Amino acid sequence: MSRTPDLRPDFLWGASTSPHQIEGNNTNSDWWRAEHQSQGHLELSGDACDSYHRYPEDMRLLAEAGLNAYRFGIEWARIEPEPGEFSRAELAHYRRMIETALGLGLEPVVTLHHFTSPRWFAEEGGWTSPTAVDRFSRYVEQVCPILDGVTWVCTINEPNILSLMSGMSAALSDGGGDFNLGAGRQMPIPSTEVGEALVRAHRAAVNVLREHTSAKAGWTVAQQSLIATPGNEKLHAELRYAWEDLYHQGARGDDFLGVQSYTSQLVDENGVVPVTESPDNTLTGWAYRPDALGIALRQAWEATEGEMPLLVTENGIATPDDTRRIAYTTEALSHLHDAVAEGIDVRGYLHWSALDNFEWGHWAPTFGLIAVDRETFERTPKPSLAWLGAVARKGGALEARG
Ligand code: BGC
Repeated sequence: MSRTPDLRPDFLWGASTSPHQIEGNNTNSDWWRAEHQSQGHLELSGDACDSYHRYPEDMRLLAEAGLNAYRFGIEWARIEPEPGEFSRAELAHYRRMIETALGLGLEPVVTLHHFTSPRWFAEEGGWTSPTAVDRFSRYVEQVCPILDGVTWVCTINEPNILSLMSGMSAALSDGGGDFNLGAGRQMPIPSTEVGEALVRAHRAAVNVLREHTSAKAGWTVAQQSLIATPGNEKLHAELRYAWEDLYHQGARGDDFLGVQSYTSQLVDENGVVPVTESPDNTLTGWAYRPDALGIALRQAWEATEGEMPLLVTENGIATPDDTRRIAYTTEALSHLHDAVAEGIDVRGYLHWSALDNFEWGHWAPTFGLIAVDRETFERTPKPSLAWLGAVARKGGALEARG
């Protein structure tokens, strides 16, 4: 028996990546510097998956499997290696990526900033520097001419996690910080000051995109799917503001909101309840919660007052066991179908991630639909890629489990 969902005929089915995690040698970025200053705390991105050179193969694998969309990013540190100095060759490189995707029948979903900034931007003070909004807008303006034919543009990936990272980067440079928020760790709270600065940068970028392109503009939020335990609704609302609603409010007037979901956590009187050790936890130490996607879609829909089309720009699991990836994704998609049946406007599902990639200081957590040999860069599609492609070809129908 299969379940046929009521998805739009133009529903996007795809996979997501980010430049720093797959391209390799992003030497001019703040993250490259942080990796090298971390005194061994972080593994190095190095050549990553060499997708900078191998993107045609990566895209071809996705298209041949049956997917119709690919989310990838443009790396600011390559486009603007020094303030005001723009590389025409790098802009042409990303234009070729867009054309390759379009040629393969993959809808390009383009991210303009995915956690990494040029070193000089970080040295100038990063997002809270008085020059930040102008710097970011100028970069976006330079990118606009290559966006011809692109319908979906995400300005900034997960500004809420970026706010956390900005707060932690000083500790990281001293070898003290780490972004792994696994079992037993108390989740920090994103900095509202950085968050508000990011909202300003996003609004300015949306205006630039509207002026120079016909793309739909939005940004993506890391939905935590926080659930209040009885009596802790007030604290839950405060945490949700700092974690998400600030960024949902910052999305007002956008064309869509990117929803990114992996897990869910409870909130008690002490805040977000740390994940407990369990054999079920994923390789990032997160609780196995495929139902988080349904919670995330409902919370995002409600927070944007039921008016903003949602695009799932990331959802996936770090696991060495591909059968588990298929089980997780099957269940996550069944929750997506429920949300759509309730009337929530979901435009697509982009799985994280296309490739086993550099997971921000760690290589062990494997999220990919495609394995990558880090010596030879050989790609080996996993069964989950063919499986997701088949779901896409069947318009989202899932085989009933159990
Ligand atoms: C980010 C990705 C990351 C993924 C899994 C999201 O926070 O956008 O870059 O690899 O989650 O941790």
